[in-house]
Amino acid sequence: MSLLEKIYETRDFLKAKGVEQPEFGLILGSGLGELAEEIKNATVLDYADIPNWGRSTVSGHAGKLVYGDLAGRKVLALQGRFHYYEGNPMELVTFPVRIMKALGCKGLIVTNAAGGIGFGPGTLMAISDHINLTGSNPLMGENLDDFGPRFPDMSNAYTADYRQKAQAVAEKIDVKLAEGVYIGVSGPSYETPAEIRAFKTMGADAVGMSTVAEVITAAHSGLKVLGISAITNFAAGFQSELNHEEVVAVTQQIKEDFKRLVKAVLAEL
Ligand code: HPA
Repeated sequence: MSLLEKIYETRDFLKAKGVEQPEFGLILGSGLGELAEEIKNATVLDYADIPNWGRSTVSGHAGKLVYGDLAGRKVLALQGRFHYYEGNPMELVTFPVRIMKALGCKGLIVTNAAGGIGFGPGTLMAISDHINLTGSNPLMGENLDDFGPRFPDMSNAYTADYRQKAQAVAEKIDVKLAEGVYIGVSGPSYETPAEIRAFKTMGADAVGMSTVAEVITAAHSGLKVLGISAITNFAAGFQSELNHEEVVAVTQQIKEDFKRLVKAVLAEL
């Protein structure tokens, strides 16, 4: 089956399950999936039951698709995403974004845990731009002309208007929201201190193992994007060592602010 056929099959499956006309897609990163539990009138689907869908293998990622009402908006939320480092092809990593677009979403809020190059643990950072250092691109292969052009512009991949609204809302609800450039790598090993020094020189403020592929796919089809990183640790070389437990623990500390922020922003978009 072609990618396009898979997209339409999955879209029709979800529509038949009652997923009708979501306005916003929500991709919830490591430890941030709890927000999906606040979705009202929820239709919850296990990833395993959705055709052409990936599987979630990382701890801290639940593996559920949740559709319903959040902050007065119809949202389609991914509790757990698919990473390139899990061995997933880019087509699978970005398939949920294709589905969001096919179902009629106009915007995507994409979130992640990231290492801080310019910012320290506990910071929430609105992503202003990214550097794709994954070594791949999800649009390689035949272009889906129904979705977008062969050579999509990435100049405004992170929608300035969404970011401005997020900043205004953050100030109103007294959440500190930094802003910076996210550099996306493949992982799963964390970076070396030399790599982080190089990334700093390149202009990166945060580093992580997700998001860029999803945002490229969103930009391809004209989905507006708000990206938010939860900085969980200083990147390699700025602290003595790195581990996933710390990432999960710090996410626990910032998730309340994160949830308040995303809900408040959703209401304004
Ligand atoms: N590097 C890459 N990915 C991450 C990090 C990091 O330091 N922290 C959380 N996700």
